[in-house]
Amino acid sequence: MKVLGIETSCDETAASVIEGSGGQIKVLSNIVSSQIEIHKKYNGVVPEVAAREHVLNILPVINEALEKADTKGGEIDVIAVTVGPGLITSLITGIETAKTLAYAWNLPVVAVNHIEAHIYSNFIEPKEKIKLPALVLTVSGGHTQLVLMEGYGKFKTIGSTLDDAAGEAFDKAAKLMNLGYPGGPFVSARAEEFSGEKKIELARPMINSSDFNFSFSGLKTSLLYSLKKDKDWKKKIPEYAHEFQQAIIDVLIKKTVRAGKKYKVETVMLSGGVSANRELREQLEKRAEKEGFLFLKPDLQYTTDNATMVAVAGYFKAKKKEFMPWKNLKANCNLEI
Ligand code: KG4
Ligand code: ZN
Repeated sequence: MKVLGIETSCDETAASVIEGSGGQIKVLSNIVSSQIEIHKKYNGVVPEVAAREHVLNILPVINEALEKADTKGGEIDVIAVTVGPGLITSLITGIETAKTLAYAWNLPVVAVNHIEAHIYSNFIEPKEKIKLPALVLTVSGGHTQLVLMEGYGKFKTIGSTLDDAAGEAFDKAAKLMNLGYPGGPFVSARAEEFSGEKKIELARPMINSSDFNFSFSGLKTSLLYSLKKDKDWKKKIPEYAHEFQQAIIDVLIKKTVRAGKKYKVETVMLSGGVSANRELREQLEKRAEKEGFLFLKPDLQYTTDNATMVAVAGYFKAKKKEFMPWKNLKANCNLEI
């Protein structure tokens, strides 16, 4: 089954063609047009600007994905499109394009949840057969969630952030220290410059709370007050970046491992834009494997927003015949898993 995936939930216009067969996935193309260069000067995504860029980019991106996959519209079996969560003005470009193509090519469509798509980024070319139930930590610019995956399409959220998402916290920390946009890769690059004895201590909010929720806005405040009190902070950016990153990692690892044990899962998976963070990948892998879980993380190219993960989520939905008439496709910016 050949699936065309379309993703426009935030500031990446993306299209991909995959071929799925018996649970195995072959990626035929993965095209992402990122707007980072445009939004960088505003230090964040400007929805109106993102919407206009999606409109300009969507058809060239889909065309490139089809050409790269050496596939014509008529050879596609299903169209999968992200319907939420995300920015409403961004989502509608992908959705309306999917509707138009489904109408023109007379194809079935499947509606995909963006968080679910991030989870399926682990199913693209897994190093081992994935054993369920699994616990998935999804950490992105908009979400921080611990999700129990009991089967294909069977998800239960057991914890989420009460305020800022992990990626958002990285982005805000970078803003406070003037490091660049989007913040995550800049904070982690500066953190790598640090070696030596740690003197700065930042808060680790909710690390010992009995639930599986997170809160990262207190950590950002803790960084803000520490910087305000420290006249020399500009000389200590690597140490601040290192401690900030480690505070996030400590909380994420502690809660993920505790949840994995409580729900007796076989597998622990990481996903979302922040899963590109090298330290998080390595430290969580080490800890999860020590606790006896199979650990999976997406290939780096599938960590941040892309349409291959959307196509894969769509493939597993299509296998269960979860199609939708194109007329019923609708954006839902607050869609939950
Ligand atoms: O999944 P994604 O592309 O978009 C959303 O769905 O939100 O995630 C983007 C987020 C941004 O907040 C970015 O700063 C963060 O992922 N990010 C990272 C790294 N690379 C991207 N955070 C920490 N370390 C990284 N290396
Ligand atoms: Zn995302």
